[in-house]
Amino acid sequence: MSPHASLLSPTALITQLRQAGCVFAEEEAELITATARTPHELVRMADARSTGLPLEHVLGWTRFHGVRLVVEPGVFVPRPRTEFLAEQALALTRPQALVVDLCCGTAALGAVLATHRQGVRVHAADIDAASVRCARRNLTPLGGQVHHGDLFDPLPPALLGRVDVLVVNAPYVPTREIGLLPAEMREHESQRSLDGGPDGLDVVRRVAARARVWLAPRGHLLVQAHPDQVAQACDAFTRGGLVATSVTCQDTDTSVVVGRRPPA
Ligand SMILES: C[S@@+](CC[C@H](N)C(=O)[O-])C[C@H]1O[C@@H](n2cnc3c(N)ncnc32)[C@H](O)[C@@H]1O
Repeated sequence: MSPHASLLSPTALITQLRQAGCVFAEEEAELITATARTPHELVRMADARSTGLPLEHVLGWTRFHGVRLVVEPGVFVPRPRTEFLAEQALALTRPQALVVDLCCGTAALGAVLATHRQGVRVHAADIDAASVRCARRNLTPLGGQVHHGDLFDPLPPALLGRVDVLVVNAPYVPTREIGLLPAEMREHESQRSLDGGPDGLDVVRRVAARARVWLAPRGHLLVQAHPDQVAQACDAFTRGGLVATSVTCQDTDTSVVVGRRPPA
């Protein structure tokens, strides 16, 4: 978009965003300006951001671990902290691996694995129809498939016992802490994408209980959690018949619990 055609000067845009409480007003203004295709769209985007719509929903895209992803309205915005989970999953993903991204949202994790490892086949699934539509836009061009339904239910049975990497960023915020999240998240991402039940681990437990039968003999399950949840998550993995370990990123206060099938 030509800046000369703008209805909103760069300075006015920054001022509007700053007044709306955007801490990184300059950076956001640059992204909005680069994304808007017309001056009118720029104004619409600035207004939407000023009402508190998350920047990624305003832009319609984000970057996650170097991959540009479509982010549709209402769909969970991939968080920078989840790049730690992506890195752990990448370390365990060989070329040609069969990968499943459960609770996929935009399919950020599956898209990273498909982009950075040659020949990887990705299946993703989510219970939310808007997420499934969005994930298809991100994953189909990479050769992946996206299924709609509760956890493992919609996966093709042919994947049973064959999954090399099962990567899951499920909702894990304890219900009582949902109210403490920024309004941007509470108002524009679904409760189902955030709320993990009384201790945050309801969905993680259901995943851990059913993962083993889907994993290849040397396959791995990787789940994101808060460091305070690691002991209970490991417990759930053990009850699901997996050997569990964990790694924590101190910078982002994020853990990844890794499970594998015990040696035969
Ligand atoms: C925290 S978001 C993570 C999204 C994505 N994995 C990411 O890291 O950006 C959790 C996702 O789990 C999905 N979800 C919640 N319960 C589910 C269930 N029972 N089965 C499948 N997906 C579920 C939500 O719709 C949401 O997209």
